[in-house]
Amino acid sequence: MNKGDVIIALDFPDAGAVYAFLDRFDEEKPYVKVGMELFYAEGPQILREIKARGHSIFLDLKLHDIPNTVLSAMRSLSRLEVDMTNVHAAGTMDMMKAALEGLTRPDGSRAKLLAVTQLTSTSQEKMRRELLISATMEETVAHYAKNAKDAGLDGVVCSPLEARLVKDACGEAFQTVTPGIRFADSAADDQARVMTPEKARLGGSDFIVVGRPITRAEDPVAMYRRCVREFLNK
Ligand code: C5P
Repeated sequence: MNKGDVIIALDFPDAGAVYAFLDRFDEEKPYVKVGMELFYAEGPQILREIKARGHSIFLDLKLHDIPNTVLSAMRSLSRLEVDMTNVHAAGTMDMMKAALEGLTRPDGSRAKLLAVTQLTSTSQEKMRRELLISATMEETVAHYAKNAKDAGLDGVVCSPLEARLVKDACGEAFQTVTPGIRFADSAADDQARVMTPEKARLGGSDFIVVGRPITRAEDPVAMYRRCVREFLNK
């Protein structure tokens, strides 16, 4: 995995909106994230098209099912040439190992595989009341991250506020990919806990995922460049 990159979340409803957005970039080919909205609307063809345009792809579908089903689903995804994808750590270590097996192509190559620890929309209170998890958020995130590492995964998706915790639990080489990024002077939107690109780097994020601050900007290319400058310190 490249150390350090800014991934743009392509949270658009259809292919037309995606291509109009990507057409604005002529010098650089940003790493992009395709989530459920776009994938379920457009299917695998959107990935082939984005790939053909020269972008790396993080396919963010957060799989969570019985191990055998996840293995078969990952086998299908392994043919789509995505660079990074993910599962829920809550699906158990057996499921994560099955995901890794399914993702591995006959020649031994595979996309990077990340685990989602606790969604940032899940609060400590919801964990306790609805999920009957009595451990703290920090304990749960660190434990799920260790499970992911022991299952052979490459890293986790987590809040930038938890990246240091994950590194301390799993080592510096275990990757952290963090959404919830905002510039010091941009709106938080619906993100409750946010961090600037620079603070995310200092806090141990290897990759940051940035959506609205770039996609809804008047000049997305300028905002992307600013994000890269702040995150990579160049
Ligand atoms: O627009 P914004 O920068 O908030 O977009 C962040 C992206 O990261 C969205 O695609 C969102 O679904 C995703 N994400 C997140 N928080 C998580 C996991 C994923 O914001 N915990």
